Amino acid sequence: MSKSCALVIIGRMASQTRLSLSVTGATPRLVTTDLIVLPVFVDDAGADLAQWNDASGGELARLRGNQEIRGKLYETHWLHVDDANWRCRRVLVMGAGPRNQLTLERTRRLATAAGLLARRQRIGRLALVQRGPLDRQACAQALAEGLVLASFQTDPYKTRERDQGALREAAIIADGEEKSVTAAAERGVVLGEATNLARGLSNEPSNLLTPRSFAERAHELLANRGLAIDVLDESRIQELGMGLMAGVSRGSVEPPCVLVVRYTPPETVSDAVLGLVGKGVTFDTGGVSIKPADGMDKMKHDMAGGASVLAALHAVAQLQPPVSVVGVIPATENMVGGRAIKPGDVLRSATGKTVEVLNTDAEGRLILADALWYARELGATHLVDVATLTGACVVALGRTTSGLFGQPASWVELVRETGEHAGDRLWPMPLFEDYTELLESEIADLQNIGGRAAGAITAAAFLKEFTGGLPWAHLDIAGTAWADDATPYQPKGATGVAVRTLAELTLTSGRFPATT
Ligand code: BES
Ligand code: MN
Ligand code: ZN
Repeated sequence: MSKSCALVIIGRMASQTRLSLSVTGATPRLVTTDLIVLPVFVDDAGADLAQWNDASGGELARLRGNQEIRGKLYETHWLHVDDANWRCRRVLVMGAGPRNQLTLERTRRLATAAGLLARRQRIGRLALVQRGPLDRQACAQALAEGLVLASFQTDPYKTRERDQGALREAAIIADGEEKSVTAAAERGVVLGEATNLARGLSNEPSNLLTPRSFAERAHELLANRGLAIDVLDESRIQELGMGLMAGVSRGSVEPPCVLVVRYTPPETVSDAVLGLVGKGVTFDTGGVSIKPADGMDKMKHDMAGGASVLAALHAVAQLQPPVSVVGVIPATENMVGGRAIKPGDVLRSATGKTVEVLNTDAEGRLILADALWYARELGATHLVDVATLTGACVVALGRTTSGLFGQPASWVELVRETGEHAGDRLWPMPLFEDYTELLESEIADLQNIGGRAAGAITAAAFLKEFTGGLPWAHLDIAGTAWADDATPYQPKGATGVAVRTLAELTLTSGRFPATT
């Protein structure tokens, strides 16, 4: 075996099927496809339903009349088109809830649910009718995102037959064919694909996604897209004085690295530089403060924040926003071993602040602290970090909402609003000085844990010490990055949370708060 030959157990995951998506203004009768999905509301009085009723020989009205189709969210009903003048003879009526309760996120989820249903029937080509009261562009974007999300392959290592077919071709049937609607759908495809990219990376087992292979994947995904990629290796990490990053990685035989990705816009409108920092722990055993065995396998997704940052930059390269972006992803394993850091050890951060490590399982904040510093070194003026940081955040907010922390309020609110629009629910949490006091160490500047109470907040308070007073938002995605249970719109596994929020945030640079 040659010296550089790693132990390869199985090959890299199968590549995802790419969905080709179009927008058509054609009348549904003339759309060539294998399935048309028609959303219907509980209180649907749309005059456009008449053509569907006629096509089905009055079946739609009958089913609605006898309450078989009620329009309840995700309710489904297959309709056959009798009229031989229709090119597609199969219709799936999908409940969309009350008309005035339709949101962009519901729209996105309905599209995903429809796409996943088609895949279970091994239907690879479908068209979705755009209906409802929402802004047509925003709605088309959400539908496109949802459809692309449905095309995600969740079982890349299954060698026998898959449970689901591949989604190859989708169309959105919009009334009218304006360029703006098509452009919105194209944006949706970019954001959906980026989300899937992050999901794929987070689902990867840690033997196949080590810090180094994470860096290789970043190169493959981002090269030739007008982005500058730089990978800091172990010696560079040492040289820069990133002692917290170096400390966490000591227990592993896999060398750490810091991925740095830079986007420079063709035309800069503002001086702002958005710094995106993502936790990239490719496996978190807890280190010497080891985690219980039950559920430890999930800790392969402790790099979900890093994956979100990488994927957001993949989208940014295509969206070409008018603001500079720098992504910093500290990538390491957190392992047990003879060289591993131990509880009570003191490390020195790149800022010069010293940290007493009282629990080696609170490693995310350590590597993020050095990464936040590095983002500032590279000129970031506004910071956002994303991390599967604390179990306490899962206790506080559950599995649907990420914790949002930061300063000033205007920056935090912009991030929250952007998340709402993008379909990532974020909720603001307090960061009073009292919490920072809980991090006072007996022998160093800071200790890395603040006790059981308010665990998500003390973790954020720790990060705050390394933000240099810049506008900064921290997203704790410990509860939202992974779905333990499948829903009609989200299969088990990585969710790709925060990708679209980060990417969309670059499109709001006109509203970034001023820094002085
Ligand atoms: N990666 C974990 C947090 C986590 C928990 C992510 C559950 C996803 C799901 C993090 O590194 C961690 O271990 N945090 C500790 C902090 C504690 C030691 C202060 C935790 O939450 O228990
Ligand atoms: Mn940990
Ligand atoms: Zn962790």
